Amino acid sequence: MNPLVVVPDGMDPARFGELRATGGLDVHPENGTTPEALGALLPRAAGLVVRSRTRVGAGLLERAPGLRLVVRAGEGTDTIDTAACAARGVRVANTPGANSNAAAEHAVALLLAVLRRLAAAHRSVLEGRWDRAAFPGTELAGKTVGVVGFGKTGSLAARRLAGFETRVLYFDPSVPEGGARALVPGARRAGSLAGLLGESHAVTLHVPLSDATRGLLGEEALAVMRPGSVLVNVSRGAVVDEGALARALAGGGGRPAGAGLDVFGEEPLPAGSPLRALPNVVLTPHLAASTGESQERTAAMALHQVREFFLRGVLVNGVA
Ligand code: MLT
Repeated sequence: MNPLVVVPDGMDPARFGELRATGGLDVHPENGTTPEALGALLPRAAGLVVRSRTRVGAGLLERAPGLRLVVRAGEGTDTIDTAACAARGVRVANTPGANSNAAAEHAVALLLAVLRRLAAAHRSVLEGRWDRAAFPGTELAGKTVGVVGFGKTGSLAARRLAGFETRVLYFDPSVPEGGARALVPGARRAGSLAGLLGESHAVTLHVPLSDATRGLLGEEALAVMRPGSVLVNVSRGAVVDEGALARALAGGGGRPAGAGLDVFGEEPLPAGSPLRALPNVVLTPHLAASTGESQERTAAMALHQVREFFLRGVLVNGVA
């Protein structure tokens, strides 16, 4: 019997068609399933291709005794219990870099949207107003932008931002100074996170969620941000203490004074989140990777990984 591959969170339809046409694999015909349908398939599943909706933890693994591969069609593997997978001999792979440009561009879009107050201005026009004096903006040119996490996405965001004639400062203990200069000419390494936060007019976060980064931007860190600065987060919500951020933003003239957020500690963002009530934030529902181009690249990589693993016994981009 061919290994059964299930794609519960859906993928680019053309690549899904190619996956289904792969000889030697039995691919469940639904491109995206309900959690109930997935539950029924788990006892037979050998491979899963997931985005962030399907969480792979001990409970799911328990119900999938024949599972051999989980491909995370995306970057972050925080929704997958890699230790539990490893303990059961389930291999895990992700698609590094496939959505980096989409995420980097979304960070720039959020930053500009906050600086130019696009969401509030748009809302006001829809409500019938034409108030040109109510939305004074701020320019990016000549400002210092701090990039926290200088991997694929962070360094791409920095390159894009450098095109706006900004000064790029970065903090990433894993990137040597010379390496960063090659990625983004002129980028300057910050000696510490606090140093970066104090100097930057805007800060954009590009770190994976780990024990080291959970709550990285807590009360203390937010308090040393440059007054009037903007915080952008397209990485993981739990990197920021949302309660502390909401309090800082509500303080008016606090540090920071605005935020563009695509990710949240709890998703969907709860109806009662204080972030929803603030005028100086732009919120998007975890959209950074959601471009046609990025989803096509991600699906192509995932397709390749599934084929290599099941047809040739090769794990590509394995993380566990
Ligand atoms: C990722 O980790 O790749 C992004 O958050 C996008 C996604 O979850 O699909």
